[in-house]
Amino acid sequence: MYKFKIKGKARKLKGTISASGSKNAGLPIMAATLLAAGNYTINNVPDIIDIRTMAELLSILGSKVEFKNHELKIHTDSCTCYEAPYDLVKRMRASIYVLGPLVARYGKARVSFPGGCALGARPINLHLEGLQKLGTNIEIEHGYINADTKKLHSNEIIFEQRSVGATANILMASVLADGTTIIRNAACEPEINALAVFLIQMGAKIEGIGTDCLTVNGIQTLHSANVSLIPDRIETGTLLLAAAITKGEITVKNCCPSDLSMVLEKLREIGFSVNVNNDSITISGKGKNPIEISTNPYPAFPTDLQAPFASLLSTIKGKSIIDENIFSDRFMYISELQRLGADIKLDKNRIVIHGGNQLTGAPLMASDIRAAAALVIAALASEGETEISRIYHLDRGYERLENKLAQLGADIERIEDN
Ligand code: EPZ
Repeated sequence: MYKFKIKGKARKLKGTISASGSKNAGLPIMAATLLAAGNYTINNVPDIIDIRTMAELLSILGSKVEFKNHELKIHTDSCTCYEAPYDLVKRMRASIYVLGPLVARYGKARVSFPGGCALGARPINLHLEGLQKLGTNIEIEHGYINADTKKLHSNEIIFEQRSVGATANILMASVLADGTTIIRNAACEPEINALAVFLIQMGAKIEGIGTDCLTVNGIQTLHSANVSLIPDRIETGTLLLAAAITKGEITVKNCCPSDLSMVLEKLREIGFSVNVNNDSITISGKGKNPIEISTNPYPAFPTDLQAPFASLLSTIKGKSIIDENIFSDRFMYISELQRLGADIKLDKNRIVIHGGNQLTGAPLMASDIRAAAALVIAALASEGETEISRIYHLDRGYERLENKLAQLGADIERIEDN
């Protein structure tokens, strides 16, 4: 177990840093390799716990997986097992992504029901209802989802609410279903677009990429393909916020500014100077204006940057508001920020921040990937020393964040937490 020790306040972050590949594009793309036999090479893969967990799951299912130097080589000649076991699914909800591909290719799957997690109840009704509409029999017993089908068929699927995971699962199932499937109210996050592009490279027929209506003409078989992952927009946003809170000036390169338009707009609204090129973003200046944010499906403000943004707004004088409209319980970091002296309160799903207090260091505990990132960002602006325990939460979604921040001048180190 590790913790971070951060000495804040003194250092303005300065310099250039590279974004890693996208965790949330990599996970569904890895699952999609189950759809066709062959050899796959995936590049620009972040070396993080969740990617390694998905690699472990694919190996359990019979794939051969090698991962080194940010490159995954996956060989999926045949599955030897169709079960995603409980101890693995409880570690990572995205394990549910193998459900659609297994049913599409082999006609069966047994996946442990994902537990809730630090973001509150996280049902999978939209995944299961969508698969049923494509002709899958679903039974739940002993905490497992048993799915089987003789042959998937097309249908028109309308999601009652936007869901990234359900869109991914149904998209991956429909590419091998007989006929034309229409998916309405589909998520159009960049990671879903990246998955759809990868499926097309595997031979799938998909139209409507980038919109909330996907049309899939099912085909009999697909073939393997290679891909380089898109940059991680949430890691990019996290690095920009770390610079902003220290009033520094950094450039994030190898990123995709257009995936972060709303986030960059909000940083400019606070008063930061944000300049973009086609694959880099430079942030500088001081924030002075409190703002209001509402998290919503892409291209609106991403829920994954809600907590990190709250840390920054805790240091901006005045009243800021963040309405969290995606998850019912993405607020566990708030009590930790209060320990640093932040004036931040929760009123139902509305976070009310009276920013401007000088934060002071304290021992903190991380509760999920983005909450951990929020605590790191706040610690950079806190007077004195902050220790953050349970850093494995951060390592699920960020590759050695402390190294990137130290490269930019932060006083941060990873130490044993016995
Ligand atoms: C994906 O989670 C991301 N994870 C999350 O990032 C991200 O926060 C989320 O999308 C929203 O953008 C990955 O891509 C691996 P949803 P997912 O299905 O698919 C409800 C991170 O930090 N819902 O879009 O689980 C659900 O409870 C992670 O990288 C149902 O009600 O999110 C939530 O309130 C955290 N029924 C809302 O929809 C369902 O069947 C959006 O969830 C599915 C979802």
